Amino acid sequence: MLFFYLFLCKLGMSLSASFSFLLLVWVGMSGERVPSDYARMGFVEAELFDKKVKEHFMPAIISMVKQIIEDYDLQGVCVDVGCGTAVFAVELCRHSNLTIYALEREEAICKVAYVNIKREGLKDRIIPVLGDAHKMPFKDEFADFVISRGSYHCWEDKVLVFKEVYRVLKRGGIALVGGGFGRYVTEEELKRMKLLRDLSLGENAKAYSSPDKLREVVYRAGIPNFRIIYDPVGLWAEIKK
Ligand SMILES: C[S@@+](CC[C@H](N)C(=O)[O-])C[C@H]1O[C@@H](n2cnc3c(N)ncnc32)[C@H](O)[C@@H]1O
Repeated sequence: MLFFYLFLCKLGMSLSASFSFLLLVWVGMSGERVPSDYARMGFVEAELFDKKVKEHFMPAIISMVKQIIEDYDLQGVCVDVGCGTAVFAVELCRHSNLTIYALEREEAICKVAYVNIKREGLKDRIIPVLGDAHKMPFKDEFADFVISRGSYHCWEDKVLVFKEVYRVLKRGGIALVGGGFGRYVTEEELKRMKLLRDLSLGENAKAYSSPDKLREVVYRAGIPNFRIIYDPVGLWAEIKK
């Protein structure tokens, strides 16, 4: 690998371009894609999805939680929309006093989330909820904080989900919806994880580099107070109610 790297540099590729190229080859060859056909997963596939997320995306999850804790004064009830196997919810719970309702549409993924929550001894503070973001099983003004990371690209009716996010948010609450790696990842981690995410999500990955589309969706949901945060480590809609 080192020889190939030096060879590429010798061919005139810049150091960073050769590095990216090699990353692409590694990701492509190593079969490290993270499964993203959530609706087709049985329990075994959901366990594999969970394993790959833990293997490859922990730096982003740790970094993003650190960022959120720093940027917002979080107390009370949180809803995590499209929580996957609750790896993010577990990290957020460990670093806050939040009670987290972890909403997930796929039954098998939700079961693995429950296993993770139980294993971490957080059953009292993270409640797995099987349900659809388009029709959230929560009453109006239920949550102080709504987070949704990396689920936005799946939503068939994005405007409707944003309306739901706004409905369940309390007055004075904050919602953060989008995707990202957080500002505490290193350049190398960022490159590797971005490449792997793009490879895993295919065309859907574009959702996380389309700020104008996200702005339009939130606007069409009739949400008055929001801003779009778009930088090299993520794309988010931050909503205040
Ligand atoms: C890439 S995973 C993100 C998991 C987690 N939020 C994280 O940051 O690691 C996206 C998850 O969103 C879930 N999802 C997609 N559409 C959903 C919907 N309409 N309602 C609830 N969950 C949904 C998928 O089943 C999947 O588990």
